[in-house]
Amino acid sequence: MHSIILNGELMERGKASIDIEDRGYQFGDGVYEVIRVYNGKMYTEAEHLERLWASAGSIEIEIPYSKEELQNQLKLLIEKDQLTVGTVYLQFSRGVSPRKHPFPPNGVTPTFVAYTREVGRPVEKMQSGVKAIITDDIRWLRCDIKSLNLLGNLLANQKAAEAGCDEAVLHREGRVTEGSHSNISIVKDGTIHTHPANNFILNGISRRVMLEICEREGVPVIEEPFTLEELSQADEIFLTGTTVEVMPVVELEGKPVANGKPGPLTKKLQDWFKLEIEQQCGKL
Ligand code: PDD
Repeated sequence: MHSIILNGELMERGKASIDIEDRGYQFGDGVYEVIRVYNGKMYTEAEHLERLWASAGSIEIEIPYSKEELQNQLKLLIEKDQLTVGTVYLQFSRGVSPRKHPFPPNGVTPTFVAYTREVGRPVEKMQSGVKAIITDDIRWLRCDIKSLNLLGNLLANQKAAEAGCDEAVLHREGRVTEGSHSNISIVKDGTIHTHPANNFILNGISRRVMLEICEREGVPVIEEPFTLEELSQADEIFLTGTTVEVMPVVELEGKPVANGKPGPLTKKLQDWFKLEIEQQCGKL
């Protein structure tokens, strides 16, 4: 796991260097993706690349490769690192230029970095469920952009970690948006409720897979913001995300969610989700 791609060049991680005036480093001026790898294959890579292009486009960063070129670079990296189960992290910053707030003049190329990490499926936690806290969503108004600026997410997640929890559930004036690094849904009377994909949340790829499964399997879904009150009375709560897949939340603010065990619909979704992965990447 010691390789890195820096601006299209595959090299040893220790040999890569980034200028201090890279705008990603100084301003968090860039975008990123985390793609899951199972059996050495990227899962939903087309969707991740599509979102990367959308994020970059919305802050006027032009990615200097085609999607196919980028995909091939990532494949080479995975092969080189002999990664079987893990993640590929990739980011594009606006590039290197003397520190000034406006965008640099044309001709400054974005800095591209990608590397892999071995990360197993969180099988035990998926069975036992995780704990979460609730906190204010203090982030900006373009949470749909997968921006390098994650301070709001980090502060929330740190609060969760200090409370011995895995995730922080974020809300704006009592309306639940998402988790600090995952999307959140609740189940009430057999119906799934989840925040609509607008500027207040990241439109998670795992969330989209979950919604497609629900449509196919006839599980009713309401894509509308739900309240903290509804959250506290949910039959089931679960998170979705690249690293967490479908993760039950069994304790919220120190109180059990329903009977304190992963709910039946959440468990079914986990099974369906696994089948989706297996269709693309082979047996898990
Ligand atoms: N996080 N919401 C937020 C704020 C996230 O950071 C993420 C993912 C998600 C889920 O999106 P997806 O299903 O596309 O992974 C929702 C990544 C994994 C991270 O920052 O590590």
